[in-house]
Amino acid sequence: MILAILGRQPKIGLAELESLTSSATIKPIGDFAALVDGELDGQRLGGVTRLAAPLQELPTTDWHKLSRHILQLLPKIIADFPDGKIKLGLSVFGLNVGERQLFACGLDLKKACRSNGRSVRVVPNSTPELNSAQVIHNQLTTDLGFELLLIKNGGKTWLARTTWVQDIDAYAERDFGRPKRDAFVGMLPPKLAQTMLNLAGAQPGEVILDPFCGTGVVLQEAALLGCKTYGSDISEKMIEYSKENLAWLTENYSTQQPLLEVADATNHIWKTPIGRVVCETYLGQPLSGLPKPEKIREIAQNCDIIITKFLKNIYCQLQSGKRLCIAVPAWQKENSFYHLKLLDHLEDLGYNRVRFQYVSDADLIYYRKDQIVARQLLVITTK
Ligand SMILES: C[S@@+](CC[C@H](N)C(=O)[O-])C[C@H]1O[C@@H](n2cnc3c(N)ncnc32)[C@H](O)[C@@H]1O
Repeated sequence: MILAILGRQPKIGLAELESLTSSATIKPIGDFAALVDGELDGQRLGGVTRLAAPLQELPTTDWHKLSRHILQLLPKIIADFPDGKIKLGLSVFGLNVGERQLFACGLDLKKACRSNGRSVRVVPNSTPELNSAQVIHNQLTTDLGFELLLIKNGGKTWLARTTWVQDIDAYAERDFGRPKRDAFVGMLPPKLAQTMLNLAGAQPGEVILDPFCGTGVVLQEAALLGCKTYGSDISEKMIEYSKENLAWLTENYSTQQPLLEVADATNHIWKTPIGRVVCETYLGQPLSGLPKPEKIREIAQNCDIIITKFLKNIYCQLQSGKRLCIAVPAWQKENSFYHLKLLDHLEDLGYNRVRFQYVSDADLIYYRKDQIVARQLLVITTK
């Protein structure tokens, strides 16, 4: 069993896990995590921030009882650690506990370990959960490190030990270190590109087509996964950017070179075979402030026309049962989203929506509070 801590939008991470394994092997833990019966490779997961070894589930969420329990448990566990100073971190998910209580618990743990002859440094919490940088820089996943996770699961609490944490430096390098970026077309975070590839079920060796490739983030992550990559875009400049970015990737990560061409996705005939289609379509013009509803309707109508034509065009070029993951725009309104009309006609266009056991269609919207244009992830198959 592995415990996976889900990212900022846990439902998207859960759908990713369902795609990679199967819903039968997954058990959601509260709102933040999932237990998975099987193997997971953290490097390929965009929506999971940590993997952990589950220790035990306790029948309480009361911090007083939990802290007393871990005071007994932890010194016993670390007694078997190799010689040297141990680094300890505490991260809680969903429990009603403040940083002061965590600090006090850390001090008690330090004392308890010292009286067992082990010297311990506790990483201070400025938030209930340590961030990935703290886990990495304090080496909490090494032999002399220990991050104890406490995760609320209804009226119970899971305890687990972190075994892997996402490599934030590697993501930053893949995002900001590549030669070409373009704020105007909007840049897909590499983590989201990974999640989309997993939602599409991408496997090493398959051809991944991105017909709106822009600067090439999807192709980049697909190449790192070991897929063959095929990108097209209506803009010559974007194809040049993708070429340069993917040449940089090949140089730094020894990935295969992509096939790239300038093409209008609404009428192009792509070369076969196509394994999966993963793309972030045209999202409409970038918006700095919230436009009037009529303006949003106008932009949405334009996107609707382009994306519908694209879906019609590519449908006849895909075998039946092919899976696609497509990010399309949705616009944030007060407490909801303005969606493209084509979502109501996917069946007529020849596609079925993939259903997830623990995640609804409405959960598959990637956004930040301050963003006007959100990305709605459509996971579909050809009929
Ligand atoms: C949101 S951007 C994609 C950004 C991309 N994910 C990246 O990593 O940079 C959408 C892209 O669609 C392209 N585009 C717009 N209309 C198109 C069409 N009809 N056919 C193909 N590409 C199109 C734009 O040039 C732009 O690069």
